[in-house]
Amino acid sequence: LHPSPKRANDNEDDPRRFRMLIDAVVDYAIYMLDPDGIVTTWNPGAERIKGYTAAEVIGTSFERFFTPEDRRLGKPRRALETAGRVGRFESEGWRVRKDGSRFWALVLVDAIRDEEGRLVGFAKITRDMTERRAAEEALRDSERRFRLLVNAVIDYALFMLDRDGRVSSWNAGAERVKGYTAGEILGRHFSCFYTEEQRQRGLPERALETTIREGRFTTEDWRVRKDGSRFWANVVIDPVRDEGGEIIGFAKITRDMTEQREVQRKLEETSEALHQAQKMESLGLLTGGIAHDFNNALAAIVNNLDMAGRRARNDPTLARQIDAALEAASNAAALVKQMMVFARRQPIQPRPIDVNATVEGVVSLLRRALPESIEIAVELGTGVGRVEADPNQLQSSLLNLAVNARDAMPDGGTVTIATTRLRREATPDGAVPAGAFACITVSDTGTGMPPEVRRRAFEPFFTTKPVGKGTGLGLSMVYGTVRQLGGDATIESEAGRGTTVRMYIPAADAAAAALEPAPVETPTQCAEALRLLLVEDDPIVSMATAELLEDEGYAVQSAGRGDEALDILEDNPDIRILVTDIGLPGMNGHELAAAGRSRKPDLKVLFITGYDHTGAADTAAPSPNTAYLAKPYRPEHLFAALQQLCRAGAG
Ligand SMILES: Nc1ncnc2c1ncn2[C@@H]1O[C@H](COP(=O)(O)OP(=O)(O)OP(=O)(O)O)[C@@H](O)[C@H]1O
Ligand SMILES: [Mg+2]
Repeated sequence: LHPSPKRANDNEDDPRRFRMLIDAVVDYAIYMLDPDGIVTTWNPGAERIKGYTAAEVIGTSFERFFTPEDRRLGKPRRALETAGRVGRFESEGWRVRKDGSRFWALVLVDAIRDEEGRLVGFAKITRDMTERRAAEEALRDSERRFRLLVNAVIDYALFMLDRDGRVSSWNAGAERVKGYTAGEILGRHFSCFYTEEQRQRGLPERALETTIREGRFTTEDWRVRKDGSRFWANVVIDPVRDEGGEIIGFAKITRDMTEQREVQRKLEETSEALHQAQKMESLGLLTGGIAHDFNNALAAIVNNLDMAGRRARNDPTLARQIDAALEAASNAAALVKQMMVFARRQPIQPRPIDVNATVEGVVSLLRRALPESIEIAVELGTGVGRVEADPNQLQSSLLNLAVNARDAMPDGGTVTIATTRLRREATPDGAVPAGAFACITVSDTGTGMPPEVRRRAFEPFFTTKPVGKGTGLGLSMVYGTVRQLGGDATIESEAGRGTTVRMYIPAADAAAAALEPAPVETPTQCAEALRLLLVEDDPIVSMATAELLEDEGYAVQSAGRGDEALDILEDNPDIRILVTDIGLPGMNGHELAAAGRSRKPDLKVLFITGYDHTGAADTAAPSPNTAYLAKPYRPEHLFAALQQLCRAGAG
């Protein structure tokens, strides 16, 4: 055993206990040196940390625990000198174990003096700090890496705010997203990233309050860049706390979502447009089918009523009743016609018409038709030019829009009808290509539509009006009209904010602008009683029409099919006129006419067009030997068409 040092402490009286204590300590190397640095005592902790046994080390210089570099620099000596001079030496540094490996040591050297103050040696305590140092190193490392990361992230603005909301750190992403350099923004309050209006609503303060209260704040909203431009931001704020849990600031992550938002919006818009187009398409098919069947039924009703009317001339009561029935039938026919227009199955006779002139014509009509409480404003653009359209359809579209505007303004207001020529991009669903359009706008200051009404307003039979007030066909007719013309219609409306409906119709090019005035006809009787062949597959319609024609003095032969009709034409060379439905089973009306004319080139043909006839525009080449008549028709129309054909042949 080694004698305990002479030093004033509690253990002086009990060297044995002191010895036991030191021997129990294994985490610290505790040993003594004589004034020259020779090891004089050694504890188990020293053996564990440095690897030497007491026997190996006692009596040797403590310099062996130093690295060769430190020895060369004279560090061991200086440690003892310092301890001798000031009483204590403290350092951290690399030390060497017996096996040559190094460890990071925390070293304390105390000078020991006897009663006379003479230096008798040193007490040395060494602690192995290798692990602690590694941990600290790792922490520093991760902090450094984190800083690198934060600055490498340029898609996110990552920055810190102090407790008052002033910017206290700023990364490269923040500079990129918000436009401020670190120098410009550090120390400024983060409310400068908000819009004026958001600041007035107290949003910056509220964001920090929420962060404190709920531990986190997230939002998506507009934010402002340095140059004043806005971007759509995804924002996350987290509180930053000290070890005691006190909030000392905030960490803020802001991401510029403008592009994503735009892409998302486009996607939604396109799929919505596509969905809408598909819905309209299937509604069109359905409506067209119903209208077709209805039309045939109406044709039979009208024809039979008409014949009954002729026979009831001597019975005024019956005649009146039949007239009333005819009136109702003609109202029904008007409705069916609107359905046909929506389904784009109404044969149209488009010709170049001047948009502004058409609008002016309708406006003069409206001035008389709309109540005085409604003001009409007209804004006709210059150079709007012409469109290829059926003037009647265009007029009734405008009337429909004006009537809707009137209904939306029961307490009065202003309806504005404007025209302009513009270039328009293709619609999202691609149905209407880009091009030059004449745009007719009808806006009102009325009740407007909530979104669910606006979305469905173009659908046929969609109405919010009470039974008997609206059929829900007005807007669907407008829609069908412009689509059939290769254009498009849009509704802009908000509940309480009025409505704007726009009709975009492809502009007709100047070459097609030659206007032909519609000839006014004065009906004249055909010079001779003509033989005609009537081809109609519906037996009821066929019978009724034949009777009508015979009543009028024509010699009628009937066929239900094209091949049957050709046989009759073959056997009866004196048949001069063919009256044929276009939609026939097997050979259609056009094919029949062509085959008939190959036998008899001057055969006159009156086509009766039902819903199957969508190509009137293409086939209506002005030929004196050809005419068209749309179902359902009044007998006068049929007779007039035939007379015109006769006259053309005679002239
Ligand atoms: N200018 C408008 N202001 C407010 N709502 C409108 C306007 N135009 C149309 N609507 C709404 O759209 C619905 C459909 O209009 P649409 O013209 O197709 O049919 P309708 O007017 O109800 O009946 P119809 O025109 O066949 O007599 C209307 O019932 C109404 O709710
Ligand atoms: Mg309407």
